[in-house]
Amino acid sequence: MTHFDVAWVRGQFPALSRTIDGQPVAYLDGPGGTQTPQGVLDAVREYLVEHNSNTHGFFATTEETDQIILAARAAMADMFGCLPEEVSFGANMTTLCFMLAQSLASSLSPGDQVLITEIDHEGNRGPWLRLAERGVLVREVPVHTSTCTLDLEALERMAHEGRTKVIAVNYASNAVGTITDVKRVAAIARRIGALSVVDAVHYALHGPIDVADIGCDVLLCSAYKFFGPHIGVMYVRHEAAEHIDALRLRTQAPTPPDKFETGTLNHEGIAGTIAAVDFIAEMGRRHLDLVAAGLPEGLTGRRREVVAGMLANEAYEQPLARYLVTELDEIDGVTLYGPPAGHPRTSTVSFTLDGYTAMEVARILGERGLFVWDGHFYAIRLVERLGLIDSGGLVRVGLCPYTTKEELDRLLEAVHSLASAVR
Ligand SMILES: Cc1ncc(COP(=O)(O)O)c(C=O)c1O
Repeated sequence: MTHFDVAWVRGQFPALSRTIDGQPVAYLDGPGGTQTPQGVLDAVREYLVEHNSNTHGFFATTEETDQIILAARAAMADMFGCLPEEVSFGANMTTLCFMLAQSLASSLSPGDQVLITEIDHEGNRGPWLRLAERGVLVREVPVHTSTCTLDLEALERMAHEGRTKVIAVNYASNAVGTITDVKRVAAIARRIGALSVVDAVHYALHGPIDVADIGCDVLLCSAYKFFGPHIGVMYVRHEAAEHIDALRLRTQAPTPPDKFETGTLNHEGIAGTIAAVDFIAEMGRRHLDLVAAGLPEGLTGRRREVVAGMLANEAYEQPLARYLVTELDEIDGVTLYGPPAGHPRTSTVSFTLDGYTAMEVARILGERGLFVWDGHFYAIRLVERLGLIDSGGLVRVGLCPYTTKEELDRLLEAVHSLASAVR
């Protein structure tokens, strides 16, 4: 296939047949959570019908459940480029991050420093901010508000050998799409002996992840942002995991990945996560020709297909996002918020429209079957720094592999008509 087969992609998602007032729904709300392909729906159902059980027993369904969890670790290892034993599951990214921060707390002393950022979602800020109660100095790396990019020079200056124990930063901003050079951040952390924690929740839908190449210690994401069920996933580099005194029960294995997994997991969600990764791999298999030139050497099996799937998605989304940015920029009263042209970004595009709050825009678009998010999307610090909190934040348009140019044209037409109604 030498072009992106969006018709095949769309055919996998039953939700896309929904209409509002006779109009097909355009799901432009992907950064808040994507729609679910049939394979994931089938896997969740099949788990609950055929394998539903708790773990570590000696009858068919419990043994099958153990196998499914192992298979899911292998699937996510193919997504991250790591070992299956380095993958843990949890309720969602935020809960996993709280558990991680609280687990690290016992090894931190008053005066130790944790770096968080102004561009991050609260899920990668709040858990670290709580450590301030223990005397830990939690410092915020500033954002350049004019470009919506992180000030990495400031991060370099703020990172102190010996004192800085954790650097927590997102791979991509869920509010404005900026991709941050997490490889550079991980290198800084390594140099000063700090743990690097990368929040890849937003990025995971938009590009291939390679934890070895990034060189981070921890990477977090959530399957519901890349076609899977509502479940969080955490990579912890094996050597780093050994040094973390995880919050756990005496009945829990003291070794990773189990030591990070409290209580009974969301088994049906885990089964669905395998299918989500398989969907991305299938997308890759169908587009190997399209992405062959950019596919790194040496990859094999499903890992190669997952990377290909994400590269195909990127190749499809990026021009669409550029089109959207260019066209929105032409509309009087639209102010775009995001990185400048040429800076790495996801296909998530945010803006305000004069004469309307973001909520008003989202509501009117929603009535026309154009589903977009409004507000701060929990990236509240960034939206505060952009000076938009009191006015209701941003309108956010999220592109996915099932988004079409026709949907974007519908959106653009609707924004045009709102803009001209103000004048
Ligand atoms: C960048 C980013 N980080 C963290 C989160 C929180 O993820 P979860 O809902 O899995 O806790 C989100 C959710 O929107 C996000 O976009």
